[in-house]
Amino acid sequence: MGNYNIAVVAGDGIGPEVTKEAMSVLTAIGEKWGHTFTFNEVLAGGCAIDAYGECLPESTLDACKAADAVMLGAVGGPKWDNVANAQRPEKALLGLRKELDLFSNLRPAKIYDALADACPLKAEIVEGGLDILIVRELTGGIYFGERGYREGKYGNEAYDVETYSEMEISRILKNAFEVAMQRGKKLCCVDKANVLESSRLWRKVAEEMKSDYPEVELSYMYIDNAAMQMVRNPKQFDVIVTSNMFGDILSDEASMITGSIGLLPSASLNGTNKGMYEPIHGSAPDIAGQNKANPVAAILSVAMMLQYTFHLSAEAEAIENAVTAVLEAGYRTGDIYSEGMIAVGTKEMGAEILARI
Ligand code: IPM
Ligand code: MG
Repeated sequence: MGNYNIAVVAGDGIGPEVTKEAMSVLTAIGEKWGHTFTFNEVLAGGCAIDAYGECLPESTLDACKAADAVMLGAVGGPKWDNVANAQRPEKALLGLRKELDLFSNLRPAKIYDALADACPLKAEIVEGGLDILIVRELTGGIYFGERGYREGKYGNEAYDVETYSEMEISRILKNAFEVAMQRGKKLCCVDKANVLESSRLWRKVAEEMKSDYPEVELSYMYIDNAAMQMVRNPKQFDVIVTSNMFGDILSDEASMITGSIGLLPSASLNGTNKGMYEPIHGSAPDIAGQNKANPVAAILSVAMMLQYTFHLSAEAEAIENAVTAVLEAGYRTGDIYSEGMIAVGTKEMGAEILARI
């Protein structure tokens, strides 16, 4: 039994609707297992620009730093597309990642049996299911490297630099090796080592570390080939570890092949397993406030929170089982609806999951 303080950054668009369902599920878990989850709701993203004139107010950052874990809905929307770069809602996300030192981003891509038809690939390619975990470096590389404008040979030019230190590489690889140990014991390091110096450093560090994990089968793949293999034969992958930008791209591709972007959670962890948990889908402003969004990704994100930050595996599993049961019972939000299924909205989907906790 424990007391857990969670900062909730519901954000924009469908963020508030889906995080509300996730909070209800956590509360139900607390009632059943005798834990107390306390929620501190704070603003970031577009809604914070509207309320405070900045996308990541100091008070929000402080609340997130003080919390045991952070739950995030989604940020951004067309309303704020024209605000200055430094205050774009996406900056709130990058700021939270950097300030909380959340360098390790776990993005699972899994096909649910009940939703196998939603996969856009031919059935034989994904036969027997698909369960990939992408470990994306989240606070380094080109996202946070030196950038700017300068006078070049042809006049004004812009640049963004990819930099990785051995420290940054070894800490993300350590996480990746460790999660691989808990899964299928296969780790594929995706890079562009035929061109990039920084990729060659990733390989050097991985080679130095691999003897610490003799059970893990380590391989390397260039990013272009990996993007191709992801649709040609995705079942070859267990855990993929990669840089910030390659992970950004590859994780969207992996989520698409599950056919159910509304179902996928993610965790962003620091070195002590404090984390920020968020659905991988965006703010979907077109359906916001209409009880149409799928709350499953947000609900599965709190299952990841229970597992990775609070080490409450039984409770996490209870959520995952409830979600599987609801999908098997045929309940579907619009994004995953197919004929003959039971169409429900955000609240009803949340209630069905809650009823099975
Ligand atoms: C993601 C998103 C973000 C990223 C954007 C919104 C800054 O695409 O979490 O994958 O590029 O990291
Ligand atoms: Mg992305």
